[in-house]
Amino acid sequence: MSKSTMQVIKRYEQYVMNTYVRQPLVLTKGKGSRVWDIEGHEYLDLFPGWGVSGLGHNHPWVTKAIRGQSTRLLHVSNNFYHPLQAKAAQQLVERSFDGKVFFTNSGAEAVDTAVKLVRRWGQGRFEIITFEQSFHGRTMAALSATGQSKYQQGFEPLLPGFVRAPYNDLAAVERALTPKTCAILVEPIQGEGGVRVASKEFLQGLRRLCDERGLLLIADEIQTGMGRTGTWFAHQALGVSPDVLLLAKTLGGGFPIGAVIAKRQVADVLTPGTHATTYGGSPLGCACILAVIEAIERQELLGRVNTLSRQVFERLTALKARAPVITDIRGLGFMIGIELSIDGRPIVDACRAKRLLINCTQERVLRLLPAMTITRAQLDQALDILEPAIEQAAQGRPQVSAS
Ligand SMILES: Cc1ncc(COP(=O)(O)O)c(C=O)c1O
Repeated sequence: MSKSTMQVIKRYEQYVMNTYVRQPLVLTKGKGSRVWDIEGHEYLDLFPGWGVSGLGHNHPWVTKAIRGQSTRLLHVSNNFYHPLQAKAAQQLVERSFDGKVFFTNSGAEAVDTAVKLVRRWGQGRFEIITFEQSFHGRTMAALSATGQSKYQQGFEPLLPGFVRAPYNDLAAVERALTPKTCAILVEPIQGEGGVRVASKEFLQGLRRLCDERGLLLIADEIQTGMGRTGTWFAHQALGVSPDVLLLAKTLGGGFPIGAVIAKRQVADVLTPGTHATTYGGSPLGCACILAVIEAIERQELLGRVNTLSRQVFERLTALKARAPVITDIRGLGFMIGIELSIDGRPIVDACRAKRLLINCTQERVLRLLPAMTITRAQLDQALDILEPAIEQAAQGRPQVSAS
């Protein structure tokens, strides 16, 4: 490790709260699917910013939008109007469903907003069904909604009103409903939970239950949304329309902004003074959203995700046939999970040593979230590193039990 890397890491140790498991890399520059560390080494990034840089690092249209807007007006309070907030809201609604938008600064804040929205809509009904292995963020409401106790330990008491059910089990959801239930919160694909895809039957069943019982269906598409799965939103590929849709990550192309889209009659329960956030929907953030939408459309990135994703899944399926350590390959579009019978974290380290950045979640699931702009050659290069890393790890690593 070089002196400059050590210096930065030491400063973190002294001054930054120690809440993240960090890889020993100091990144200083990015372009598309490539990043550079402080020592000048180049890496191929197949997990750009936990999915934030869905268009790749520093997409030129996003940086151009930031440069242009930053000379006009960075922020304006929500006591005034701004043309870009109106335009960004309209463009999101036109690509999802007829409704209205509330802009937030992060994914967790979008989840918190949705919790307030459905509670107010519920008029006394306040329970929300969420799912085992789900992940919704770290603020108190988002944490309480999250279906993984490991994140909640030490932070009790949690916010009441979240009822956990097993994922992809409609009968269990039905059993969990009470007269106090007002909504069901679901990730169409659980990302952090291990890239687990909801079946069409399950999601459609949830929609049916919501319609029959007068409940709201909230889709947390913070990770899956904005093209990652090859459609604008994963719920479209899975044939279901939610009442409330949560977005962040790719939405701002690297700029922190989130959104809650709700059907009109639901959105209207939030009236002036009932909810707010100082930075929400800033001109700068909305300029980024518009640049992201324009890039996805004009660069035809959805089609590109679908074509390239098929090729990746074909290669991974062939690898699975010769590497029994792989127990499952799953996902949709550019949300790809490789489940292993061994601990995947040493494979992340081995890939990093070969200048490839990937993620491992739930100890045994390698997670790839390539940028929609990645090239075929870059994907091939990544798989040329990943495949032998998995094969070598299979020889000699201890098995870990299923989680
Ligand atoms: C599905 C999902 N919901 C919510 C969140 C929380 O988003 P943020 O980290 O922006 O608060 C995440 C973050 O990984 C997520 O993947």
